[in-house]
Amino acid sequence: MMSDISNKRQEVFLKGKEGSECTINLHGATVTSWKNKGEEILFCSEKALLDGSKAVRGGIPLVFPNFGPWTLGPQHGFARIKKWREDDAASQSGDGACSKVFVLEDDEETRKLWNERFRLEYTVKMEENKLTTSLKIYNKGESAFSFTTLMHTYFRVDDIDKSGVKGLKGVSYDDKVDGGQHVEDRETVRIDKNYDRIYKNCPGPVELIPDVDKPGLSRKLIASNLNDIVVWNPWAEKAKSMSDFGDDEYHNMVCVEAGTVSEQVSLAGNSDVVFSQQIIVVDQHSKM
Ligand code: BG6
Repeated sequence: MMSDISNKRQEVFLKGKEGSECTINLHGATVTSWKNKGEEILFCSEKALLDGSKAVRGGIPLVFPNFGPWTLGPQHGFARIKKWREDDAASQSGDGACSKVFVLEDDEETRKLWNERFRLEYTVKMEENKLTTSLKIYNKGESAFSFTTLMHTYFRVDDIDKSGVKGLKGVSYDDKVDGGQHVEDRETVRIDKNYDRIYKNCPGPVELIPDVDKPGLSRKLIASNLNDIVVWNPWAEKAKSMSDFGDDEYHNMVCVEAGTVSEQVSLAGNSDVVFSQQIIVVDQHSKM
C-alpha cells in the first residue's frame, strides 16, 4: 500500500492491490473515485469542477452542518466547499487496508455563517471490496449545537433503467419532487424520472442492484449508522439546467445518500459523535 499527493489538483490517493485505488480531493475532502480491483464504483461528472470553485458534482461530497437549502449559508452547508487538510500522522496502511484522515475546523469564514466551534475528522479507509467513510464531529464549544449531515454518494451505474435500490420497502419518505409523505411499497425501487426522496429511519442496509434482470452481477451494499437515505437522480430536464453535469449523464448515476437529515442532531458541548458509512461490493464469490 502506498499513497502520494499531487499538489496541482490537491488530490490524495490511496493505492491498494489489484488495481484498487481511491482519490480524495482536499476540496471538501471529497472522495472523487474509488476503483475496486479496477472497477469504478463512484460516478463523477465529466463536467465536475475539481479546482475548488464549486462543490464536486460526483463522488462523495460531505454535507455539514445543513442538508438542503440553508438560511445561514450555502445549500448543503460549507463542508463540501471548504479546503480540508490531511492529517499525516493519523494515516495508516497495512493488513490489506489503507486509510487517510482529513480535518476541518471552524475558522473566521465558517463562524460568520454558523457561529459554532467544531472539529471534523473524516477517515477514508479502503479495503478489498469495501470503502468506509467515517465522520467524527466534535463540538469544541461549551454549549450544544444542532446540525444535519449526509454522505452524498454518487454511484456509477451502466444503465439507470435497469438498476434498482433494495431495502426501502415499508419505509416512510418525503417526496421532494411531487410533494407529500408516503410509504414505500416496492421491494426494489426503480428510478424512471426525477427522484428526490428522503427515506426516513431506514431499518438496515440498502443495496444497489446494477441490473434487476441479472441477479448474478455484483451489487453494492450501503450500510451506516445514519438514519435516513436520500435517493436522487435529476433526470433529463433538470440535468440540462445543471452547468456541471452532462445532459445524458443521468443514465449512468444514482445518488444513494446516507444521512441524518429528517431530524436535527443535537451535540452537547465538549463531546463528539461519529457517523460511518460502508460501501461493500458484493458478488457471488465474495464473503461478507
Ligand atoms: C440532494 C437533494 O441531496 O442533492 C436535492 O435532495 C439536490 O434536492 C441534490 O438537488 C443536489 O444538490 P446540489 O446542491 O449538489 O446541486
